[in-house]
Amino acid sequence: MTAPTAGSRQRCDDCSRSYDARDLRTACDCGGLLAVEHDAPPVVGAALRERFDARRTPPGAAGAPPAAEALSGVWRFRELVMPDVASESIVSQPEGNTPLVARERVARWAGVEGLLLKHEGHNPTGSFKDRGMTVALTQARRGGAAAVACASTGNTSASLAAYAALAGLPALVLVPAGGVALGKLAQSLAYGARTLLVRGDFDDCLRLAREGAERLGVYLANSINPWRLEGQKTIVLELLQQLGWQPPDWIVLPAGNLGNTSAFGAALHAAREHGLIDAVPRLAAVQAAGASPFAASFRSGFAERRAVRAETVATAIRIGDPASHDRAVRAIRETDGLVLDVTDAEILEAKAVVDASGVGCEPASAASVAGARRLTRDGTIRPGDRVVAVLTGHVLKDPGILLDYHRGADPRPPLANPPLEIEPTLAALERVLEGVTE
Ligand code: F0G
Repeated sequence: MTAPTAGSRQRCDDCSRSYDARDLRTACDCGGLLAVEHDAPPVVGAALRERFDARRTPPGAAGAPPAAEALSGVWRFRELVMPDVASESIVSQPEGNTPLVARERVARWAGVEGLLLKHEGHNPTGSFKDRGMTVALTQARRGGAAAVACASTGNTSASLAAYAALAGLPALVLVPAGGVALGKLAQSLAYGARTLLVRGDFDDCLRLAREGAERLGVYLANSINPWRLEGQKTIVLELLQQLGWQPPDWIVLPAGNLGNTSAFGAALHAAREHGLIDAVPRLAAVQAAGASPFAASFRSGFAERRAVRAETVATAIRIGDPASHDRAVRAIRETDGLVLDVTDAEILEAKAVVDASGVGCEPASAASVAGARRLTRDGTIRPGDRVVAVLTGHVLKDPGILLDYHRGADPRPPLANPPLEIEPTLAALERVLEGVTE
């Protein structure tokens, strides 16, 4: 074992063995997952909040910090992400700085006036994965990786492909054949990743990627990679900052492989520990009913870990055996959180409402809004609560589901807005306009 680098180390969740921060392994010798630990930041509380707030200074202004810290909504929080990397070594697009928006129509549908949407689809490749990938590729480069790889339901692979291109590293991605939304597959090809369509589901892809990475010596960038989670923590840090460090009552997010749920738990733990906030919001992790082993496990008091064969229209979270189960359990317990599942019909209706508000998101993202509505209806979220629902991916990620919904006829979905084909005549146009303006 090498001596740990000052600043951070990687520690096994199961046996507590620690590894150097630059070590490129993503699992302990005992098989346990690794977590990153940082030394306490040099300042805490109000001073740390001020440091993070000051980095929002526009670059080029007098006294502006180095570029990555100023431009990126991930690296602004570097003390809690990867403190000991030189600014010029950071692989950043940049990413983060995503909007936190209120939309009356969505709030009304969900039944909670204080609903805000944190739109991670505004990241450079259209999903929250970019926040983790900037850190993973920075780690890959400083550790001297020869190539990077991941298994994915589509967004991780799109993000890895883009960041690998930026870092100048070859990328290999494994996705379930026929199980990836069109926009995501197109991105992975466009950014130049070697793209393998695996005849199996996501869980098969991840197993193969883990075995292959070890055997082939490529750096694995799935969310079991502890640096990915360090980056994803900044979704929570950034939304807290946008709220003036006044935490909401609830943060609601979609849950699949449970990396993000784990990262959110770790972020809230760190925010409380270092005095950024004095109350911790409750986490609500929302799964699709056909892919809900974590919700089932929650209902049994987390007495057992479940695995299922997953099926849902929300392909991003079509995952039956989530890799970060144990960490996510800790996140839910530490935040007095909960786990629920919503049906595909609820997901599609929530998506149609978010889309029609002019915001738009991919199906998996809408699970958070559907979850907020369910929790409001059953009285768990109270009407006056402040709730942030995280939209994890962009509306254009999955045009196939979108068009199926709006063109669907049998039965016609409740919020369908089908296209109309017309003759190229003024009379035809008039007939349509009468319908619109009536
Ligand atoms: N929302 C979207 C849009 C996703 O792409 C994912 C995961 C999640 C939610 C769930 O996050 O897995 O951390 O619980 N997508 C992964 C991928 C699995 O390969 O792109 P999680």
